[in-house]
Amino acid sequence: MRTEEISRLIAHAREARLHAYAPYSRFPVGAAVLTLDGRIFTGCNVENASYPAGLCAERNAVGSAVATGVTEFRALAVCGSESAYTTPCGMCRQFLAEFHVPLVICAKSEDDYIVMTEEELLPHAFGAGAIKETE
Ligand code: THU
Repeated sequence: MRTEEISRLIAHAREARLHAYAPYSRFPVGAAVLTLDGRIFTGCNVENASYPAGLCAERNAVGSAVATGVTEFRALAVCGSESAYTTPCGMCRQFLAEFHVPLVICAKSEDDYIVMTEEELLPHAFGAGAIKETE
């Protein structure tokens, strides 16, 4: 991916973070996912008084894209803390693996980020192939 594309995706994630609903953790997170056809969908974390019902930014962004019929992605950017790289939680890694999101960009800012491949993020992922083998 070109540097400008990465910066743009991060900017969208940072914008989405402004809308985070995180009254319990006070840890706002934003995510933006780039589709194969060039569109960007965003999500933020949405917490709940029943804590486990809360939703992470990454799953919110991917879910928004899937709701429009898109299931093919090029990359996802996630922005939480500005002083440390926020990396997807285990549940989000599994969720991203479902759609084979090839690159995940964990950003402090538009020009300070790390990039992880699908394999780095969740090696030996459990996927559809494993279920089919048992049929
Ligand atoms: N969170 C995300 O939305 N994405 C991450 O990558 C890490 C954690 C949210 C979940 C919860 O609302 C808050 O951050 C604190 O864990």
